[in-house]
Amino acid sequence: MPYTINQVKELVREFPDFPSEGILFRDIFPIFREPEAVECLVGHFVEQVRGLGSPIDAVVGLDARGFLFGPLIALRLGVAFVPVRKGGKLPGGVVQAKYQKEYGVDVFEMQADGIQAGQNVVIVDDLLATGGSCRAAEELVGMLGGTVVLNAFVISLEGLEGRKQLKAPVYALIEC
Ligand code: PRP
Ligand code: HPA
Repeated sequence: MPYTINQVKELVREFPDFPSEGILFRDIFPIFREPEAVECLVGHFVEQVRGLGSPIDAVVGLDARGFLFGPLIALRLGVAFVPVRKGGKLPGGVVQAKYQKEYGVDVFEMQADGIQAGQNVVIVDDLLATGGSCRAAEELVGMLGGTVVLNAFVISLEGLEGRKQLKAPVYALIEC
């Protein structure tokens, strides 16, 4: 049976006190157990991107859960998929941006030839929290001369005000 986007939203589960006490963890993996739900999710994001009205050249997915559906969106749009990975994982020339995590600083990298100057990209990830990860990804795209036209998430934790950190517009399927 085809899924509606509201049925897809209902597949996201909440786990109190994971990975540590006081954190309510939103888990998107149940969506990926249902091929028709994935189909609906990907189609929904493709519609958001097409609705921008500007052509895009690449989908940039963030390590790790942006890798689950970023390539599917890129495939459907007929554009490149470019990964942003945690530091030290990508071979060849890379650009690097540091960002603040709950404890300490983390590093994101993108291959220097992943994006060409002048290209328009959409960044995708499962969840927007403080915005530190996505802001670092925006910086990487900017270092290579690209433009982020949209940051797209399955979930945005609005109370953490991550979208205020970001330069490009934000779309989130679930705002909570
Ligand atoms: C989570 C999530 C986002 C990021 C959001 O990933 O998947 O990528 O945190 O947080 P922020 O908006 O505060 O930066 P995490 O860094 O835990 O890494 P993982 O994907 O390897 O689990
Ligand atoms: N789910 C996935 N990643 C996260 C979450 C969450 O609820 N909170 C911060 N990063």
